[in-house]
Amino acid sequence: MNNAFQRHRRLRRTASMRSLVRETFLRKEDMIYPLFIVEGEGIKEEVGSMPGVFHYSLDRLHEELDEITGVGLQSVIVFGVPKHKDERGTSAYEVNGIVQRSITYIKENYPSLTVIADTCLCQYTDHGHCGVIHDGDVLNDQSLELLSQTAVSQAQAGADIIAPSNMMDGFVAAIRAGLDEAGFEDIPIMSYAVKYASAFYGPFRDAAHSSPQFGDRKTYQMDPPNRLEAIREAQSDYEEGADFLMVKPALAYLDILRELKDRFPLPLVAYNVSGEYSMIKAASQNGWIDEKDIVLEKLTGMKRAGADLIITYFAKDAARYIDER
Ligand code: PBG
Repeated sequence: MNNAFQRHRRLRRTASMRSLVRETFLRKEDMIYPLFIVEGEGIKEEVGSMPGVFHYSLDRLHEELDEITGVGLQSVIVFGVPKHKDERGTSAYEVNGIVQRSITYIKENYPSLTVIADTCLCQYTDHGHCGVIHDGDVLNDQSLELLSQTAVSQAQAGADIIAPSNMMDGFVAAIRAGLDEAGFEDIPIMSYAVKYASAFYGPFRDAAHSSPQFGDRKTYQMDPPNRLEAIREAQSDYEEGADFLMVKPALAYLDILRELKDRFPLPLVAYNVSGEYSMIKAASQNGWIDEKDIVLEKLTGMKRAGADLIITYFAKDAARYIDER
């Protein structure tokens, strides 16, 4: 009977035994909280499809930032929701744009926070695409110039990290060159290297008013069934000088996280996107699942799959759960 089978349950007998052999940990330092900042005054408005996530105007942003720093989080990613949209997304790279002002405000008042700027045009263009349009096409090379300009304006405002999410080819090289030329050779690029054309972004597009006004994003964001293509995307961003690689969304793409973790020696980020948040919120509001246990299980799962960092709307909740443990 002795060697007939293995007794795996030996290491699960008690809570302290289980914690002794635990392999994966979720830390507050690993989580990045997304902020949506709108123009105007006195605004704190819940995003309809994302319970617990709010739009803030700059004058009330301190309420959110106090909470974030209060629970011990260290990083935020900022999304601007501008009033003015036009064909070329000019408010994305304005010196006094909503994102630029927000970044400066946060760095002045909360200097310990790491501020990551999402670099894209879709919230700022009237057509809602992530680049310049001509004859119904999203032009690649012409968009790079504007994206690079956007990144430089964000760095000038004080951003610690530039996170381009636009999926144009060559965006890391173009932004790196722009940053270096402007004297920001020390500002890292967190590339949304592998970003799928996903249905899980629906609630974010409500939040950021960034739905494409015609067509979809399938000519620049990736086709969900593809794995080798993800490796090619990550490879080129790696070669172009990205400092972090990101996979987005997270839950349906845990295999891709592992693939990249095993292949590229860079910090890896998972974006736990809006739809993944809203589904859990809706189910827990119906009493169908235990929100806390589900949130911890899935964030830990992303880390186990290979993510070093997670951008998540659950960051504040998870930080509190970590304190309770
Ligand atoms: C901008 C951008 C999107 C998200 C982050 N940056 C939306 C999109 O590509 O349509 C989605 C984030 C989320 O769903 O939480 N390009």
